[in-house]
Amino acid sequence: MERFTAAADLHTWSVGQKQAGMKIGLVPTMGYLHEGHLSLIREARRHCDKVIVSIFVNPTQFAPNEDYDAYPHKEAEDIALCEAEGAAAVFLPTPEEMYPTGASTWVEEVTLAKGYCGAQRPIHFRGVCTVVAKLFNIAAPDVAVFGQKDFQQVAVIRRMVRDLNFPVRIIRAPIIRDEDGLAKSSRNTYLSPDARKSALCLSRALAAAGEAVANGERNAAVIESAIRETTTAEGWLPDYVNVVDSETLMPLETICPGASAILLACRKNGLRLIDNILL
Ligand code: PAF
Repeated sequence: MERFTAAADLHTWSVGQKQAGMKIGLVPTMGYLHEGHLSLIREARRHCDKVIVSIFVNPTQFAPNEDYDAYPHKEAEDIALCEAEGAAAVFLPTPEEMYPTGASTWVEEVTLAKGYCGAQRPIHFRGVCTVVAKLFNIAAPDVAVFGQKDFQQVAVIRRMVRDLNFPVRIIRAPIIRDEDGLAKSSRNTYLSPDARKSALCLSRALAAAGEAVANGERNAAVIESAIRETTTAEGWLPDYVNVVDSETLMPLETICPGASAILLACRKNGLRLIDNILL
């Protein structure tokens, strides 16, 4: 497996691979890899000959009051996991490599990024779009794989790719959950055993909503208030719970199975979790 820290070196390698007829996949990550990330690498390998995994905790998507400095790291283990999953290359840039002194250009999607997590984290998606656009330019992938766990992020990136004509196919890979239902996340490491146990109310509420819809419920308000009730009973207060159109993220009054999703973010004792379900 190749290791790159310089953007120009990765670009030269990737372009060389493409000239040799290889299809390139990219899995952008912030490291601290878990089974969810590994499933993204596997998905990328199903579609591509060579998979690049980027590992970069992107400072521009964190507000000053967020957990950039505390974000968990385990670089050596992450590299070994990428190799074991058959990645062809890892990209481990420094912040200075990605953001040279005086960097003053942003990529910003201004519609899908505004609500939900964007309302709580106003600069987050601008940072995500900027770094992902840079990674696309550096790695020149044919395909990039992102997890459904960050549902709004995938919608925003798809819109950016469409609007800016990036020649990259975006694949949204399903959420990977622990056996008890908790969606895998690098930030689950912040949960105490008690908080982790009570956090199961998020996936439980979404699963019940999915069942209600399968049984014919179409009223979004009914579904949203049932979810709100379940999580609030466990002390997880919703920042938002919305039935939305799965492409435009517009809130829906009536659920349209096959084209709707429920987006959920909850807080408890300073911790914030997100989860979602496609209906
Ligand atoms: O989902 C993430 O881990 C990050 O937002 C991403 C896409 C790697 C950009 O930094």
